[in-house]
Amino acid sequence: MKLLVTGGAGFIGSNFVRYMVNKYPDYNIVNLDLLTYAGNLENLKDIENKPNYKFVRGDIADRDFVQGLFQEEKFDFVINFAAESHVDRSITDPGIFVQTNIQGTLALLDAAKSFDVKKYLQVSTDEVYGTLGETGYFTEETPLAANSPYSASKAGADLLVRAYHETFGLPVNITRCSNNYGPYHFPEKLIPLMIINALNDKELPVYGDGLNIRDWLYVEDHCQAIDLVLHKGRDGEVYNVGGNNERTNIDIVKTILKQLGKPESLIKYVKDRPGHDRRYAIDATKLRTELGWQPKHNFDTGIKETIDWYLNNREWWENIISGEYQEYFKSQYGDRLGVE
Ligand SMILES: NC(=O)c1ccc[n+]([C@@H]2O[C@H](COP(=O)([O-])OP(=O)(O)OC[C@H]3O[C@@H](n4cnc5c(N)ncnc54)[C@H](O)[C@@H]3O)[C@@H](O)[C@H]2O)c1
Repeated sequence: MKLLVTGGAGFIGSNFVRYMVNKYPDYNIVNLDLLTYAGNLENLKDIENKPNYKFVRGDIADRDFVQGLFQEEKFDFVINFAAESHVDRSITDPGIFVQTNIQGTLALLDAAKSFDVKKYLQVSTDEVYGTLGETGYFTEETPLAANSPYSASKAGADLLVRAYHETFGLPVNITRCSNNYGPYHFPEKLIPLMIINALNDKELPVYGDGLNIRDWLYVEDHCQAIDLVLHKGRDGEVYNVGGNNERTNIDIVKTILKQLGKPESLIKYVKDRPGHDRRYAIDATKLRTELGWQPKHNFDTGIKETIDWYLNNREWWENIISGEYQEYFKSQYGDRLGVE
């Protein structure tokens, strides 16, 4: 069995590649990644020499390159993680989100169709459903109502995936997962950003009133869900993935400070993100009942392990935050925090 994993040098993709390379020694896994600012081969150091793993650098939106790769490798399964993934960046520069997330998905779908792959799995997000009020959950039937350029580009890609199933009979699945956390999470995202700033005794910028709610899932539980859908998902179906772990952002930040023994005076409320979705909550009943998925980690132990990982892997994140990331942090939070 030969698998193409795109975006396998990013946060979730690298956790997934490691999970699959170790779990299925008989599968050949090709990781296609452009290595944008978010891609990092350091994430895969421990498995890079495994005989069932290969890395290829390239752009999923480069149609000729993608067709050539499919012709050469004859993939059975395609799992598409590659994306521009950060909402804040999509507000500053939406174009690259359309390019990678929509054009890239289209190029992969065309190649999957031309070379008769057995399954195309699109890794999507609960953000395509928009925002919830104080009650209720997103189900697979919730209408798409994306609010940010990021989620709009992911929703557009999901509709293309659906269309390639309905129109051309391509065997597809879409997974829509809630927020992930765990090792190798890029420092611009909420949890690693707060851990690293706290460790450096820097201010922790919290958007708005800090009461936005996200439904957090440990990354390995997401990987396990994708593995299940890949092998057992019914063609054409969407599966929501979420762990019933709703937390406000401020609750997450306080949990991190407490574990690190740092004062809450480091918290700084800053101007909110425009169009900031208030609450996400996932109903994953379909995945649980149809495919028997069960998350293994609960939030209390998962967040503790994650914080410990950042404490034990300083070199990994210090390398990242020493370069281009500093420029990004200044442009995103400089005015809000009053720093040059
Ligand atoms: N992080 C979350 O909480 C979350 C939740 C649900 C769904 N998702 C989805 O999961 C996927 C992975 O998310 P992540 O947080 O790991 O993202 P990430 O930003 O950490 O990683 C994205 C990876 O894609 C690569 N990439 C970007 N553009 C590319 C291109 N044109 N061609 C090839 N590779 C390219 C990057 O180099 C990087 O390695 C995304 O599709 C995202 O929408 C993420």
